[in-house]
Amino acid sequence: MNLPVPQLRSEPVDELAALCKAAGDPLRLNILRALANDSFGVLELAQIFATGQSGMSHHLKVLAQAGLVATRREGNAIFYRRALAQSDLLGGSLHAALLQEVDALPLADELQARIATVHGQRAEASREFFARMAVNFQAQQDLIAGLPQYRDSLLALLDALSFPAGATALEVGPGDGSFLPELARRFASVTALDNSQAMLELARERCVREGLGNVHLQLADALQTPQAPADCVVLNMVLHHFAAPAEAMRQLTPLLKSGGSLLITELCSHNQSWAREACGDLWLGFEQEDLARWADAAGLTPGESLYVGLKNGFQIQVRHFAKPDAKHPQD
Ligand SMILES: C[S@@+](CC[C@H](N)C(=O)[O-])C[C@H]1O[C@@H](n2cnc3c(N)ncnc32)[C@H](O)[C@@H]1O
Repeated sequence: MNLPVPQLRSEPVDELAALCKAAGDPLRLNILRALANDSFGVLELAQIFATGQSGMSHHLKVLAQAGLVATRREGNAIFYRRALAQSDLLGGSLHAALLQEVDALPLADELQARIATVHGQRAEASREFFARMAVNFQAQQDLIAGLPQYRDSLLALLDALSFPAGATALEVGPGDGSFLPELARRFASVTALDNSQAMLELARERCVREGLGNVHLQLADALQTPQAPADCVVLNMVLHHFAAPAEAMRQLTPLLKSGGSLLITELCSHNQSWAREACGDLWLGFEQEDLARWADAAGLTPGESLYVGLKNGFQIQVRHFAKPDAKHPQD
């Protein structure tokens, strides 16, 4: 006699149990801790936790099934980030409390050191790319999005802001310097930081050609070089070359004066993985809400945003974030 096959039905209590089970493991809790401000691929996480790739994949699968991590395809690799707790869903408050407890845990020194190694590997890949591609810079930029496509939107945001007389600007990653003439016209003095000698040379040639006497070029890693803070900090198509963009936004905040403005032009999240090889992109654009969340964590307030759709399918986001004025917190 054939016995009836029991129907497997997922009950709400099963979902709650999956959440508790996923969280009931020290390695998985540490993975959630490491993902607090970053997203990593499986191989990177295996490197950070000095464990095999298949073991790491298993743990990530358990976390993903419990809704504790979300995935994002970056070319051929899958990147993992923490899923946000949703208080209106079953287990939402447990999820939020869990992340709060996890974030209060110290991250072991050896994990921090291996995370720094992973960031170093990403940054090195980016530096090598710009050292090689300076000769073809414009053609490479045009593959996705060049300044002509977002200049008007960026200037619309910039010109809607008010700056004090004698205000200063800092451009991080000016590339061949095509935005420097606009900044030089609007600010008393402009500093441009690029960590690629080859790219800085292109910017220098432009400054000489256009007689930009108030622009100071500096060969420096923007995330490692202390600077006098500026009224306006601009990053055009640079954030996706940073190893750890969330952390980078936190590091860039001290470069802004109180009451100053951070302008970021970036690609919206996309799945064109060829951009990694062809354009040296470490990140395939960003979700709008990720930028806002990272800015908020860095103590910045979101302002206006403009979006530019391109014929090639890419979308650009031009974002303004303000550093609250310590003297007039309401402004
Ligand atoms: C894609 S290019 C963008 C150039 C220019 N802003 C534009 O939109 O045409 C990225 C630039 O950022 C620079 N860069 C990348 N990481 C940097 C860092 N940590 N510090 C300073 N510059 C960096 C690169 O050398 C390169 O010139």
